[in-house]
Amino acid sequence: MAGGRRGDSFDVKWANIRHHDVEAEVFERVHPEGSSIYERAKVSKSIAYIAKSCRARDLCVDVGCGTGFVTGFELPHYKMVVAADISKRMLDVAKRRLGGAKSLCLVVCDAEFLPFKRGVADLVSVSSLLHHLPRPFSYLKEVSRILKVDGFVYVTREPSYQRFRRFFDFLDRFVVQRFLRLVRFLRSRLENVDLNTRLDGLDYAAVDVHYPMGFHFAQLSRALGLLGFEVVSAYSYHWIYPDSNRGWLQTLLTKSNFLIERFPLSNKLGRYVSIIARKHVKDSCGA
Ligand SMILES: C[S@@+](CC[C@H](N)C(=O)[O-])C[C@H]1O[C@@H](n2cnc3c(N)ncnc32)[C@H](O)[C@@H]1O
Repeated sequence: MAGGRRGDSFDVKWANIRHHDVEAEVFERVHPEGSSIYERAKVSKSIAYIAKSCRARDLCVDVGCGTGFVTGFELPHYKMVVAADISKRMLDVAKRRLGGAKSLCLVVCDAEFLPFKRGVADLVSVSSLLHHLPRPFSYLKEVSRILKVDGFVYVTREPSYQRFRRFFDFLDRFVVQRFLRLVRFLRSRLENVDLNTRLDGLDYAAVDVHYPMGFHFAQLSRALGLLGFEVVSAYSYHWIYPDSNRGWLQTLLTKSNFLIERFPLSNKLGRYVSIIARKHVKDSCGA
C-alpha cells in the first residue's frame, strides 16, 4: 500500500479519535520530546520567522493541534488562530492550557475536510500530524486549498524516513537509555520517573499509519513544489532523545541537540523533519 498506509481511512480516523481521546490528558507525559526545550526553541523561531515574512496575519490554522503546543506560539502573532483536531478531548486540554485567548477558536474536524473556504489562511501548521493520516501527500492539497497565495505551510515533527528511524531506535535503546541507567546506578539512586509510560488500551500501531515509512524532507519538498509551493527551509533535526526533560542529565542531553545541529550534515540526518514553504501560485481552482 502506498506510503505505508494500513487499514482503510475510516478505520484509521476512528482509531485516531479513540487513541487521542484517551491520550489527551497525559499527552505531554508520554511524548516529552514534543515540548522539550529544544523543540520549543525550534517552533518558536520558525513561527516568528513566518509571522515576520507573512503579508497578512489574519488567520492561522493549526491542524491536528493536539494539546495546543504549536498553537500557543502562534497566538501572539495572528488575529485569529484556529486550533483544529479530530479528537475533542485533545481540544479540551488545549482550551485549558491556552486559557481564554480571545483570538483562539477550537474546531473539531477531520484534517482532510477542513471547514474553510478556499484561500483564507495566512499560515497552516501541521505538527506531528501527517504520519497519522491515511494519505499524507495528497492531504497537502487540502492545505493548499485553504491557504492564500503567499501564505505559509509549516510542517514539523514528522518522523524521518525508515532507515534513520532504525538508527535512532538503536541509539535510544542501546546507547542513551543504557547510559542513563548506568549513571543512575553509579549515583546509587533511582529517579522516580517511568521512562516507558504507556497507557493500557492504546494501540500505537493503529494510529501511526505512516510511521513504518517515515518522511524525507526532500520527498516532502518535492510534493510541495508540485503543488506550487516555494520551499523556504527543509531540514531534519533532533538526535539525542533522553525520553524525559526531568532531571539535570536528561536536560543536558536534550540541550546537546543545540550543539549537534552545528555540525555539517546534521540537518540531513535528524529524527524529525521540518519544512517551511510558501504558496507561490494559485491552485487549479484559482484560490
Ligand atoms: C501526535 S499528535 C500532535 C499534536 C500537536 N500538533 C503537537 O505537535 O504536539 C497528533 C494529533 O493529530 C490529531 N489527528 C489525527 N488524525 C487526525 C485527522 N484526521 N484530522 C485532524 N486531526 C487528527 C490527533 O487527534 C492528535 O491530536
